[in-house]
Amino acid sequence: MSRVHICEVGPRDGLQNAKHLMPTAAKKAWLRALADAGLTEIEVGSFVPPKLIPAMADTAEIVAFARTLPGLKVVALAPNLKGFQRALEAGAHKVTFPVSASRQHSESNVRMSPQQMVEEVRKCAELPHAGVEIEGAVSTAFGCTMQGVVPEEDVVQIATALAEFCDGVALADTVGYANPAQVRRLFRRVREAIGNKLDGAHFHDTRGLGLANALAAYEEGVRAFDSSLGGLGGCPFAPGASGNVITEDLVFMFESMGVTTGIDLDKLFAARSLMTSAIPDEPVYGHMALAGLPKGFRAAA
Ligand code: COA
Ligand code: ZN
Repeated sequence: MSRVHICEVGPRDGLQNAKHLMPTAAKKAWLRALADAGLTEIEVGSFVPPKLIPAMADTAEIVAFARTLPGLKVVALAPNLKGFQRALEAGAHKVTFPVSASRQHSESNVRMSPQQMVEEVRKCAELPHAGVEIEGAVSTAFGCTMQGVVPEEDVVQIATALAEFCDGVALADTVGYANPAQVRRLFRRVREAIGNKLDGAHFHDTRGLGLANALAAYEEGVRAFDSSLGGLGGCPFAPGASGNVITEDLVFMFESMGVTTGIDLDKLFAARSLMTSAIPDEPVYGHMALAGLPKGFRAAA
């Protein structure tokens, strides 16, 4: 049986870029609904200075709540050592670090060069962190709105450095520049360099190629994907960044291909309604929520 693993990143990638704040109680109800729909991994927030991103100020409370949801892997983003320490204290099961392959994006996002950021993640990995996974996410891996082209060699080099001390490495198309041919080529190159430490794909749908890129990565052997409900998302420090690949549509694509996600689409639509009622003025996207399931649709067995 073919199977993919989907990590919902809306509560972090989505809400960090939303114009409207979601109250803490609504975040908790949304997380519960996502877990009920079958999501087993959710990136629930980030440990960044609250002044910088007020929407993430309640992440410690949200992590503590998410840990009570049975079987859920609770992920948080950290941009530095202080963020990592906060994530450990809060009890995150997995911490992901954004390591941009574009120097300009890295400096704008974390005020460090890519090399300095790699060293920051190394310092974190050297701290005791029993039972906590560390992921290095190579952001702007497919291009950058500030730098333009990002050389593939730079991505391979950063991924190789991160693979030395991270449990997994993901490639992220932060600004939606990737195309399927590029996705296949770069995932193959990075896999040749770091083998199965390469564990995830994070796509944005800014130019409409999110699903096509996810399929290309799947065909290249990738089995772990990030996506966000309603296509919320985007990095506030990358000009022009917009929403992630849409969870509802991604789940539908895989399930209709006979690839199991473990996620129930009707319950996912219910989670979407909860989310939109908590931030009703926030634009949301997605074909499946508008069109509904095809007559006779059957999820993958
Ligand atoms: N959580 C909370 N507070 C933090 C922090 C963290 N992870 N990291 C630093 N701070 C605090 C410091 O203690 C310091 O506080 P003080 O002014 O009261 O002394 C202040 O923030 C500045 O610290 P400094 O180390 O100089 O950080 P900076 O201003 O150079 O910012 C980052 C660097 C990495 C913290 C910031 O750029 C950042 O959070 N980037 C991530 C942005 C993001 O979330 N992008 C989207 C996801 S990819
Ligand atoms: Zn993203």
